[in-house]
Amino acid sequence: MQGSANLNLMIKAARKAGRSLVKDFREVENLQVSSKGPGDFVSKADTEAERIIKEELLGGRPTYGWLGEETGTGAGADPTRRWIVDPLDGTTNFLHGMPHWAVSIALEHKGEIVSGVVFDAAKDEMYWAEKGAGAWMNDRRLRVSGRRQMVDGVFATGIPFGAKKTLPATLGDLARLMPTCAGVRRWGAASLDLAYVAAGRYDGYWERELQPWDMAAGIVLVREAGGIVQALGEGDDILASGAVICGNDGLFEPFCKAIRNT
Ligand code: IPD
Ligand code: CA
Ligand code: CA
Repeated sequence: MQGSANLNLMIKAARKAGRSLVKDFREVENLQVSSKGPGDFVSKADTEAERIIKEELLGGRPTYGWLGEETGTGAGADPTRRWIVDPLDGTTNFLHGMPHWAVSIALEHKGEIVSGVVFDAAKDEMYWAEKGAGAWMNDRRLRVSGRRQMVDGVFATGIPFGAKKTLPATLGDLARLMPTCAGVRRWGAASLDLAYVAAGRYDGYWERELQPWDMAAGIVLVREAGGIVQALGEGDDILASGAVICGNDGLFEPFCKAIRNT
């Protein structure tokens, strides 16, 4: 279990931001009962986490580019490398005092995600992967599940909320998939959904209308754990399309058939 210098930097940044978020998460419980609620407090926690990560990553690699949910894009002197960061994925869970949220950090090189870290700080689960070095959770090697029957499969998705356009499509997916499998979960943190596929907890996951920072780190986790990840629209680019489907190698085909309705 030996990561590169970049990977170690990513883990250090994720731990530092995670510590700050855990402290704030404890505070959220107290704020739940106030009439204003914890909304402003959480958006400050989120911004502070991105500041911490940016300081670590760009401090260590000042020439790399940047794409962060809270601070947007920044070009670096090295146009081939870019950090892709979601400082707090699963904000709604965090806001409601539910311990299912993560820090997500990826490194892209020449358009390909080469390293990813997803840190579930509330559970102290550090998921990490590097191209060619496998996927890990803390010091345990990860492997996608070995399930081969749809009836045994548990899948995850995100159900669009608010003004998202794709609710009918996702409800259609659920109507086709649910009668064929053992269950569908919707836990509200895309980076962890991908990490759970890598860990063999979920057998597959799909979602639409995501942003690059929701998926980037998780993509390399699933691939390095032996899973398959594609854009939901066949032939599309995953990050650009914002719609992803992934699963273990045995169930990917029937799972795709149900979701893509082919
Ligand atoms: C959200 C989560 C959620 C997904 C949403 C994302 P945020 O990210 O990943 O699971 O369904 O589409 O926006 O806002 O908590 O960083
Ligand atoms: Ca997110
Ligand atoms: Ca976020």
